[in-house]
Amino acid sequence: MTSASCLPLVAIDGPAGSGKSTVSKALAERLGVDRLDTGAMYRAVTWAALQRGLDPGDVGAIGSLARQLDLEVGGRIRSDGTDITDAIRSPEVSAAVSAVARNPDVRSVLVGRQRRWVAERGGGVVEGRDIGSVVFPDADLKLYLTASPEERARRRADEDANALARRDRLDSTRSASPLEVAEGAKVLDTTDRTVSEVVEEVMGWL
Ligand code: DC
Repeated sequence: MTSASCLPLVAIDGPAGSGKSTVSKALAERLGVDRLDTGAMYRAVTWAALQRGLDPGDVGAIGSLARQLDLEVGGRIRSDGTDITDAIRSPEVSAAVSAVARNPDVRSVLVGRQRRWVAERGGGVVEGRDIGSVVFPDADLKLYLTASPEERARRRADEDANALARRDRLDSTRSASPLEVAEGAKVLDTTDRTVSEVVEEVMGWL
C-alpha cells in the first residue's frame, strides 16, 4: 500500500501512557507529515453514545451511531460540528471506551476512515492499538512503544491507576483486533528516554 505513496507511513501502537501521543506528534513534525490519533476516534464515538444515553455495550446501536457520526479528527476533534477535544478525555469516556472499541462494527467503520485518511495524504504518522497489526500491516515502519507500569500511571495521572490497568487488560484480551506487537514491529521502551532520543532512534530506522 505504501510503495506508491510519496510520504512515509509510520504505525505506532502501545498501551495507554506508553508515549504514543508525544512521540507521534514529535515524529510527525520532524517528518513534515500529518498525525492521526485513532484513540480519539474511539473516544469520540463513546462520547456521542454517552451523550445520547446509549449503552456503550449495545453492539447494534453503537455500530449504527459510528456509521452516522460526522467525525473531524485534525488538531481539534469535532463530532457533528461540536468541538469535543477536551470532553473525550473525561473519566466517563475513559471508563466506557473499551466497551465501544471491542465492537467489530465500530472497528470496521473507523478502520475504513483511517485508511481513507492515509490514502488522501499519501502517508502520515498513525497511532493506536491495532495500526501495525491490522490497519496498516505494510507501513514503512511499525513501532510498539512500552513503558513501566509506574511510569505509564504517572503519565496518565488524570486516570485512576486501577481504571487504567483495567482498560489495558480489556484492550489486550478482546477478540477484535487486540493490542499486540505487530509482526516486524520495533519495540521501544520509553521509560527513561527523552522524546528527542526516541525520535532520533526512530529516524534511524526510516
Ligand atoms: O489512545 P487512547 O488511550 O486515547 O485510546 C482510547 C481507547 O481506544 C483505548 O482504550 C482502546 C481504543 N483504541 C483501539 O481499540 N484501537 C485503536 N486503534 C486506538 C484506540
